[in-house]
Amino acid sequence: MPPQVKRLALLFAIFIGLFLVARYFLVPKSFGEHGHYRGLSLVENQDQEPKYAGQKVCNDCHDDLMAVKAANDHKTISCETCHGPGLIHANNPDSLPLKPAGREFCAKCHSLNAARKAENIVQVNPEEHNTGQNCTECHNPHDPWEKMR
Ligand code: HEC
Ligand code: HEC
Ligand code: HEC
Ligand code: HEC
Repeated sequence: MPPQVKRLALLFAIFIGLFLVARYFLVPKSFGEHGHYRGLSLVENQDQEPKYAGQKVCNDCHDDLMAVKAANDHKTISCETCHGPGLIHANNPDSLPLKPAGREFCAKCHSLNAARKAENIVQVNPEEHNTGQNCTECHNPHDPWEKMR
């Protein structure tokens, strides 16, 4: 065997050895248990505490507001989209959920944004549209046109 082939073979053997050692340390133990992913990730996800209740649960106690919302422009938006995770509150109503306030909150969805189609979501320019007042002074968040009727 020519000497350069021997050296090459030795180099290959070293690289393959290094690869096997690195793989031994880097591949998580539960990899491949159920397929081509880390088996423990299932268990870890299962163990996470749920935070959202879903709006069917909100309806148990706030059916009045649910009915108002369902008949108006925000019908497609779930309660918890605006009020944040509500499971803790639903299990213990004394612990109140987030109550969004301020113009920035509504502007998150309604400010001018070329990336959103105006036919899907109505946009206003918060720097021009009735500045100096909170949006909710004029628009009821559960029925945006209520006060204008
Ligand atoms: C077991 C009954 C119950 C359930 C379920 C429930 N709530 Fe409530 N909620 C209450 C009570 C009681 C109050 C306090 C009195 C009030 O404002 O109506 C309250 C108040 C609120 C408030 C006012 C907070 C404030 O600072 O004034 C918000 C917002 C709210 N709930 C949202 C929700 C959302 C969203 C859900 C679903 C994830 C939900 N609630 C589920 C009973 C409930
Ligand atoms: C588009 C966002 C949005 C959605 C969707 C929404 N809310 Fe609200 N909600 C608000 C805002 C903003 C306030 C604060 C209003 C204020 O301060 O005048 C509020 C206030 C409340 C309050 C306090 C009492 C009141 O009437 O002001 C309760 C209770 C409440 N929301 C429950 C709910 C429930 C239950 C749902 C689902 C049926 C829901 N909200 C859906 C934005 C929203
Ligand atoms: C999570 C996104 C979201 C948030 C937050 C939100 N909206 Fe909306 N809003 C919508 C969608 C979606 C519609 C229905 C599509 C449309 O008409 O633009 C809507 C509809 C409306 C309309 C009726 C527009 C029309 O076509 O007649 C008004 C007014 C409005 N929202 C005001 C507000 C105000 C005020 C707030 C803050 C209290 C708010 N919105 C918060 C998404 C949002
Ligand atoms: C002083 C009362 C007042 C305040 C404050 C106010 N609005 Fe309005 N809004 C109106 C009236 C009246 C209209 C209908 C006439 C018009 O389009 O200006 C309207 C229209 C809208 C529309 C529909 C626009 C369209 O083209 O159909 C949206 C969306 C809206 N407002 C969102 C908001 C948001 C978000 C805020 C806070 C950043 C806000 N409004 C603050 C009174 C108000």
